[in-house]
Amino acid sequence: MVGLLPLTLVLFSWGPFVNAGSVNYGNPCSVGNQKLEFGTYQFQTDCDSTTFCNSSGLCDHKGCRKDEYPFGYPKNSDFPPRCDSGLFCPDEEDQCLPVLAVGSACQFDRDDECEGPPNFKDLADKTGYGLNVNGSVCLNNVCMWANATLGNTCVVENTAYTVYSSSNESIDIVSRDNCSPGLYCDSQHMVCMQMKNLGDSCDADKECSTFNCLASGVCGKSADSPEHVAFWVYIIVGVCIFGGMLATLIGMYCFHRGHRQAEREKRLQYWREQNAFRQNIMQMQETARHSIMSLPGGGPNSPRSTLYNRDGTQSEDSQIPMLNPQSKSSALRHQLSDDGFDDGSQESIMIQRVDRKDSNRF
Ligand SMILES: *[C@@H]1O[C@H](CO)[C@@H](O)[C@H](O)[C@H]1NC(C)=O
Ligand SMILES: *[C@@H]1O[C@H](CO)[C@@H](O)[C@H](O)[C@H]1NC(C)=O
Ligand SMILES: *[C@@H]1O[C@H](CO)[C@@H](O)[C@H](O)[C@H]1NC(C)=O
Ligand SMILES: *[C@@H]1O[C@H](CO)[C@@H](O)[C@H](O)[C@H]1NC(C)=O
Repeated sequence: MVGLLPLTLVLFSWGPFVNAGSVNYGNPCSVGNQKLEFGTYQFQTDCDSTTFCNSSGLCDHKGCRKDEYPFGYPKNSDFPPRCDSGLFCPDEEDQCLPVLAVGSACQFDRDDECEGPPNFKDLADKTGYGLNVNGSVCLNNVCMWANATLGNTCVVENTAYTVYSSSNESIDIVSRDNCSPGLYCDSQHMVCMQMKNLGDSCDADKECSTFNCLASGVCGKSADSPEHVAFWVYIIVGVCIFGGMLATLIGMYCFHRGHRQAEREKRLQYWREQNAFRQNIMQMQETARHSIMSLPGGGPNSPRSTLYNRDGTQSEDSQIPMLNPQSKSSALRHQLSDDGFDDGSQESIMIQRVDRKDSNRF
């Protein structure tokens, strides 16, 4: 299906020719060689992209530019100015000229050369598809206003563009008319018709308000419309994000649980060993004490005896359970209670600490 795209939508990937001629400033040129290139309708001249062919037949510096970003100028060079409101820069770009009245001759596809209608605010194209400029339109090289109303006769200009792609060359027909906004010019009856809504049957892009007639023959949504996502998709994505975070946390907890268990087991084992070691030392102390006391001159008044019997709790109560350290209990707390420290244990622990310090002297 041949798309009837508005002109501004047509993109030229690359053409066989470049923009301008090759004659430099001051060299001879012929005004008669100026033309629009077939297929692309690009303005062609003998002069290079920074000069125009003046009335003396010599390439002269351009006096204005029609594009904001002109093609072919060296980097950081000064561009000629753009024209003020009420003026236009013609294809030749020689100088700014006043806008043309309705019925005047204008250059191809240069709606901006034509004077706007009094009600230009109502007629100006608001679709962004380049249907007119400020309510005026240049059709078949005549300035008009885009003011034809529903059911009234209209003017059409069909242009076949050659569209180049990397390995292909095809034709794209652009149909322009002078119908008011929201209407299109039917090519058979030459009257303005209402633009069609999404889902209506169509034959060309210009018939659809979205400017996209699908291959299936119905108006589709605009080719540049952004993709909107339903609200439930946001919810699902949000739930998935938080679910993923939670699953990661739980997974890491489970993954490291075995490791934590092993570490705890190791510490417990270490504690048991130390405890058993301490028991041995205390037994040695006990043995030593008994042997000192049994020595002549040793006895209850010796300095060591007072140290170990300071408050009388350093007795068999805390000693006896220590003799049986290899309890099968797995938890640290259980081990403590098994050892019989649950009541009055603070005191006995303090004394045992003193013992341990003192045991270093042995
Ligand atoms: C045409 O351009 C040349 C410079 O290339 C300049 O000397 C000459 O005066 C110009 N002629 C007119 C009529 O402007
Ligand atoms: C549109 O056309 C009107 C009438 O000719 C003119 O006064 C106005 O400046 C134009 N606006 C623009 C943006 O060109
Ligand atoms: C519509 O525009 C044409 C020029 O294209 C003009 O002659 C005519 O007066 C305009 N009609 C109205 C109603 O503005
Ligand atoms: C060339 O363009 C035509 C018409 O648009 C199309 O049918 C064809 O598939 C294209 N070929 C390639 C190789 O792109």
